[in-house]
Amino acid sequence: SDKDSIRVAVITSSDSGFAGKRENVSGPVICSIVNNFGYKVVYETILPDDIHLLAEEMKTICDYNIADLILTTGGTGFSERDCMPEATQSISERLVPGIPEAIRAYSMQITKRAMLSRAVCGIRKSTLILNLPGSPKAVEESLSYVIPELEHGLRILI
Ligand code: MTE
Repeated sequence: SDKDSIRVAVITSSDSGFAGKRENVSGPVICSIVNNFGYKVVYETILPDDIHLLAEEMKTICDYNIADLILTTGGTGFSERDCMPEATQSISERLVPGIPEAIRAYSMQITKRAMLSRAVCGIRKSTLILNLPGSPKAVEESLSYVIPELEHGLRILI
């Protein structure tokens, strides 16, 4: 299959965004990077920082084969409500530590605060799930760095 056949789902984890109290900027940033790269955004949603809602949403996307790649933003820090890594781990069958390791190693050259991201990456069935941090700047830096290398893994997976 060719590049534009890669289907991407984008999930933003944000209590304030879900409540409409904060504009969702990072979700659209992901969509534009994905589109510019030639992949197709097939689904986009914003959910509160709730482990069960996030896990169920990701599980459904994987189990009904709605997307090949799920990119999440937000909920990876130290706030009490941040639970995206736990939600992702709870539904992942296999973990892919190298991708978040690479993102943190690269991002550490930009800001040492990158060490505070608890982001994980996992595989459920034939879908890859990658957590990205919450800020538009962090999303742009992280996703632009890894997106060219995801292709090879996705080819083997799907
Ligand atoms: N990664 C990059 N590339 N650039 C950044 O500015 N910010 C960090 C980190 N990763 C940052 C980054 C900060 S300040 C935090 S708290 C963590 O991501 C977690 O972010 P989150 O809570 O918004 O998910």
